Amino acid sequence: MNTILQQLEDRREEARLGGGQRRIDAQHAKGKLTARERIEVLLDEGSFEEFDMFKAHRCTEFGMQETTIPGDGVVTGWGTINGRMVYVFSQDFTVFGGSLSETHAEKICKIQEMAVRNGAPIIGLNDSGGARIQEGVASLAGYADVFQNNVLASGVVPQISVIMGPCAGGAVYSPAMTDFIFMVRDSSYMFVTGPDVVKTVTNEVVTAEELGGAKTHTSKSSVADGSFEDDMEALMEVRRLFDFLPLNNREKAPVRPFFDDVARDEVSLDTLIPDNPNKPYDMKELITKIADEGDFYEIQEDFAKNILTGFVRMEGQTVGVVANQPMVLAGCLDIDSSRKAARFVRFCDAFEIPILTLVDVPGFLPGTGQEYGGVIKHGAKLLFAYGEATVPKVTVITRKAYGGAYDVMASKHLRGDYNYAWPTAEIAVMGAKGAVEILYRSELDDPEKIAARVADYEDRFANPFVAAEKGFIDEVIKPHNTRKRVCRAFASLRGKKLENPWKKHDNIPL
Ligand code: HXC
Repeated sequence: MNTILQQLEDRREEARLGGGQRRIDAQHAKGKLTARERIEVLLDEGSFEEFDMFKAHRCTEFGMQETTIPGDGVVTGWGTINGRMVYVFSQDFTVFGGSLSETHAEKICKIQEMAVRNGAPIIGLNDSGGARIQEGVASLAGYADVFQNNVLASGVVPQISVIMGPCAGGAVYSPAMTDFIFMVRDSSYMFVTGPDVVKTVTNEVVTAEELGGAKTHTSKSSVADGSFEDDMEALMEVRRLFDFLPLNNREKAPVRPFFDDVARDEVSLDTLIPDNPNKPYDMKELITKIADEGDFYEIQEDFAKNILTGFVRMEGQTVGVVANQPMVLAGCLDIDSSRKAARFVRFCDAFEIPILTLVDVPGFLPGTGQEYGGVIKHGAKLLFAYGEATVPKVTVITRKAYGGAYDVMASKHLRGDYNYAWPTAEIAVMGAKGAVEILYRSELDDPEKIAARVADYEDRFANPFVAAEKGFIDEVIKPHNTRKRVCRAFASLRGKKLENPWKKHDNIPL
């Protein structure tokens, strides 16, 4: 018996070594952790249960039968993060460059299917040279199987991808179909075709980092949701994100113990809005002042900064926040901010996470760039996302809510549950100056008359009371009370039930 146990231990030891000590050292020399070390950091200590440790490829081309490595370049299994279950795969770059073979794909598919069956999220740690070149179409088929499972898992269990090395060719499409993508700065990249192909086809000279590094994807393309200094930081941040999320679409997000007073007054909020309506202020201040313990987990921090998206907790319960940011482009809606917020709202709705919307929006950004880029269709994404969302929706208008953007930002008319406004709110078709210039065009050469008209318009419309009189605003609240009012609103909505009509699926303007 002892001998058999020893043999098992020897075989496990061999599998744990992956592509061997030399390649492990090379991985470390690049500042990267190995596939197994990453799992250790990600999961609770000692919680990892591995599957398919001895699974090997079946390829006989190019002399591959001489080199089989147990595990075939990906470590898969399940474990826990702060006691909650999660399925994980972690590609092992030391084994054939983490490239994806038929059997490597089968391992990933197995845990994807188990995750959906058992209702637990999937985290993929990607570090791979792409399709296993020796296997040809078998490898491509393997990718497609993974893609198909990504689609089926979407909206059923949260899927998170961390890019921790190369991720090229069609391999990028599996992460692209997951809910969140994190990248490690300077050691990860994602692109459909690499710099050499780009040069041949378009004559552009570009480095891998410029083409598909973390900065590019978090600030330009918006493919990635966050970037981090190194493997360690990225994995710790995934743990933090994971804690905000439910395990699946039938469960609520976990309620965490909190040490913050629900009725906490924030007197400083009474002076957050500057006297000058054109002066910006930092909307993040409002978010952190009303969140439990001031904790705001921002998603897509470096992209479309005119809108903020992320998670907070209120009374320990996860809440998704969408907020216009007056510090950037006056907080207007445009193509990028609409896309960013729409995707976030849809994630929250798919996983029953209530949504808090903080509004200070002067309208949609004008211009040919926006119109030619399809701002109508992209803006409609956000409108659609809010309109279809059935989760609890609480909205606070702090200052401007003009025009179509008023409607879009979780207004009463899109089934907002609680629509609050601060006394500083201005809810109107447009700003006073613009309105007067249209209504009183014939008086434009008389500045005094125009000034009086602007003052009159402001008195009549630049306030929340017209909307409140119509019941579009449920209550005008004092800024310092906002945390208490919003917490109570969400508490009262815990039993909310709302269903959309049956359909196969909707046709969101993609
Ligand atoms: C098999 C691969 C491999 C691959 C790397 N290796 N990529 N083996 N299939 N796709 C092996 C190498 O032979 C080497 O083996 C080890 O992994 C490490 O590779 P290096 O090149 O030494 O590492 P590095 O210099 O860090 O470069 C990493 C790399 C490069 C940039 C990823 O290896 C590379 O360009 N690989 C090919 C990428 C590629 O074109 N893949 C196909 C993309 S198309 P040894 O034994 O020396 O350690 C695609 C289609 C998917 O993926 C379609 C889905 C629909």
